[in-house]
Amino acid sequence: MKLMEKIVSLCKRRGFVFQSSEIYGGFAAFWDYGPLGVELKNNIKAAWWRSIVQERDDVVGIDTSILMHPQIWVASGHVQDFIDVFADCKNCRRRWRVEELSDDKCPSCGGELTEPRRFNLMFEVPVGPIKEEATITYLRPETAQGIFVNFQNVLQVSRKKIPFGIAQIGKAFRNEVTTGNFIFRTREFEQMELEFFVKPGTDKEWFDYWVEERFNWYLKLGIKRENLRLREHKKEELAHYARACVDIEYKFPMGWGEIEGIANRGDFDLARHAEYSKETLSVFDETTRERYIPYVIEPSAGVDRLFLAFLLDAYDEEEVEGETRVVLHLHPALAPIKVAVLPLSRHPQLVPVAKEIYAELRKEWMVQYDDAQSIGRRYRRQDEIGTPFCVTVDFQTLTDEKVTIRERDTLRQMRLPIKALKDVLRAKLGGEPFEVLPEGAEWFTRQEVPSRSGED
Ligand code: GAP
Repeated sequence: MKLMEKIVSLCKRRGFVFQSSEIYGGFAAFWDYGPLGVELKNNIKAAWWRSIVQERDDVVGIDTSILMHPQIWVASGHVQDFIDVFADCKNCRRRWRVEELSDDKCPSCGGELTEPRRFNLMFEVPVGPIKEEATITYLRPETAQGIFVNFQNVLQVSRKKIPFGIAQIGKAFRNEVTTGNFIFRTREFEQMELEFFVKPGTDKEWFDYWVEERFNWYLKLGIKRENLRLREHKKEELAHYARACVDIEYKFPMGWGEIEGIANRGDFDLARHAEYSKETLSVFDETTRERYIPYVIEPSAGVDRLFLAFLLDAYDEEEVEGETRVVLHLHPALAPIKVAVLPLSRHPQLVPVAKEIYAELRKEWMVQYDDAQSIGRRYRRQDEIGTPFCVTVDFQTLTDEKVTIRERDTLRQMRLPIKALKDVLRAKLGGEPFEVLPEGAEWFTRQEVPSRSGED
C-alpha cells in the first residue's frame, strides 16, 4: 500500500478523518474530523495561536463573521479576479485547471480539450427569507478580509502601533474546480492567517522575517527539514493583491505542495477598502508627522494541509522484537492523546488504582484509559495514534506505589512513584529532557510485552 493510502486508512480506522455525508454516499471534497482528528486539529491551531498571538506582544487576535457585506468582496478584488480557468478533456472527461496543463492536450490521455472556461471560486449565499429579494453575498474564500475591515476597530482598542498584527483562525470556502488528494484540496477548509501591518519601506525586511519565523515553526514542531522547502512565486503566478509571495512547501507523496503562503500584500487591501467604504484606513506617524496606509505582510496557512503534512511526516513503520509497529512520532504538543493509562489486566485490584490515576491526569491532559486485550496490543494501539506516553499499573504498584512510564519513541521505560508522575509528565510533554530522575525513580529496560503474573 502507498503511504497516502495508509494514512487515509489509518485516519478512517482510528477516527481522525471521515468522508463527509458518508452514509449518503459522500459529498465531494468535504471531510469530517473524528474524535482524534478534532484533537490534532485543535492542537495545531493552539500551537499556532500560542506562537503568533500569546507569545508576542505585537499581535492580537480576532474572530470575524464568515458572511460579510458583499461590497467587501468587490473592494477586495475577489468578485472580479478570484477566478480559475479550466478545461475538460473531450475524451476521458477529466477536468483540469489551466495552470496544470503544459500544452493543449489532456495530461492523462492526450485527448482534445474544450475551450478554457473562467469560473469564480466563491460560493454565493442568498441572505434573507425571500430568495428573490435576498442580498447575495459569499462564503468567505479567505479569513483575511475580516481582519482588514476591522483594522481601525482593533487599532483603537488594542493601543498598538505599527508594526503590529491581527491574527485569525477560521473556516474558508472555495468552489474548487478540481479537488482531491484527501484533505489537501477541499471546498471547505480552515485557515490560520496573520495580517502584519508595517510601514512602507520596511516591508521587505518584515517579509524576510516572517518567512524565516514561519519556516522554523514547522521545524520546531518536528517536521523533517528535508521535507520542507521555500518556493518563490514568479510574477505571473502572484495573486491579484500580492507584490511578492513565498510558499512553504511540504514533500507530499504526490509531490511538493503548498502548506503556507507568505505574501507581501502592500497597501492593496486597506487602500481599496478606504476607497470603497470612504473610511480613513491610514495611520499617522507622530515622529515624521506623515500619514500613510500601512503595508501588509501575510503568513497564511491551511490547517487541513498542515494536518496532512504532520501525519505523513510522523508516520513510521518500525521493527520491534520481530514485529512491525506502526507509529506516529507526533510532537507531544500535537499528539491527540498525551497519556494512556493501562492497567496490566482487568484484575479488580488493579482497575481502581488505574482509574484513580486516569481521573487525576485527565484534569490536565487528554488521557485515554484502556484495559482491553494484552498490554502489547494496547501499546501498539497507542503507538499508532501517536500517544507519547503510556502509564502502566501492575501488581507491584499495589505494594510500592510506583508505576511505569513507557516512551513512545525510545521505548524506554521508567519506574517512578505515583506522586512524581504528574511532574515528570509535565516536563516531558513540555519537551524537557527529564534526565534528572525524581526520588525513587529509575530507568530500566524490559521486554516490550512483560510476562508477569496476572497478565491477560
Ligand atoms: N489570504 C491568503 C490566502 O488565502 P492562499 O494561498 O490562497 O492565500 C492560504 O491560501 C493557505 O490556505 C494555503 O497555503 C493552503 O494551506 C490553504 N488552502 C487554500 N486553498 C485550500 C483548499 N482548497 N483546501 C485546503 N486548503 C487550502
